[in-house]
Amino acid sequence: SAPRVIAIDGPAASGKGTLARRLAAALGFAHLDTGGLYRAVGLTLRRAGQDPADAGLAAQAAAALTPGDIAGLMADPELRSEATAQAASLVSVVPAVRQALLDFQRDFAARPPVLADGTPARGAVLDGRDIGTVVCPGAPAKLYVTATVEVRAERRLKELQGRGAVAIYADVLKDMKDRDARDSQRAVAPLKPAADAYLLDTSSLDADQAFDAAMTFVRAKP
Ligand code: C5P
Repeated sequence: SAPRVIAIDGPAASGKGTLARRLAAALGFAHLDTGGLYRAVGLTLRRAGQDPADAGLAAQAAAALTPGDIAGLMADPELRSEATAQAASLVSVVPAVRQALLDFQRDFAARPPVLADGTPARGAVLDGRDIGTVVCPGAPAKLYVTATVEVRAERRLKELQGRGAVAIYADVLKDMKDRDARDSQRAVAPLKPAADAYLLDTSSLDADQAFDAAMTFVRAKP
C-alpha cells in the first residue's frame, strides 16, 4: 500500500523531479511538477515582453492562466530554459502569484487526473518548494530532497549541455546560488523542509539509489 499524496520539496537540480516522476510511475500516481507552474507564469511574461520582476503584471498573468494555457506551456521547450527559471524565481516571490496557483495544485492533489494510459490515478505526487509546508501540509508522506550546490550545478550543467545549450559551470553555479537564496529567503512560502519530512541527500546517490531510499520510506507509510 502507499499513501495517496506524496509531497516532495527541495532546491533546483536536487533530483526531486526525477524522483517524483519515478515514484509516480511505480505507484500509478499522477505527477505534478509545480515548478512548471511558476515557469509558465514567467514564460508568459517574457513572451509578452513584460518584466517578470513587476509584481502587478506577474499577479495578472498568474490569475489569467487557464488549465488549457498551463497544459500548453508545460509542453513548451522554452519552459526549461535558464532564462525562464530565473523569471519563475522572480514571480514566485509575489504572494498573489502563489495564491493564484494554489487552487490548481490542491485540486490536482485531491482529484488527480487520469494517467497517460487512461487508467485512473491511485494518488498524486507533487514536487516543488512548498508542497509539504503550504500546498499539502496534511500529506502523509513528505520528502525533502537536497544535494550540495556544487553537485546540483554540475547536474544542471550536464542537463543543459545534453539539450544542446551552451553553458558554463561558473554561470550555472552562480544562477543556482541566486535562486537558492531567493527561494529560501522569501517571506511567503520559503523553501524549507516540513517538520515531518524525510530528508534525502542525493549528493552521493545516483537516481536508482535515491529512488530505492524514497520507495522504502513511502512503503512504510500507512
Ligand atoms: O523546480 P523549478 O526549478 O522548475 O522551479 C522554478 C522556480 O519556481 C523555483 O526557483 C522557485 O522560485 C519557484 N517554485 C516555487 N514553489 C514551488 C515550485 C517552484 O516557488 N512549489
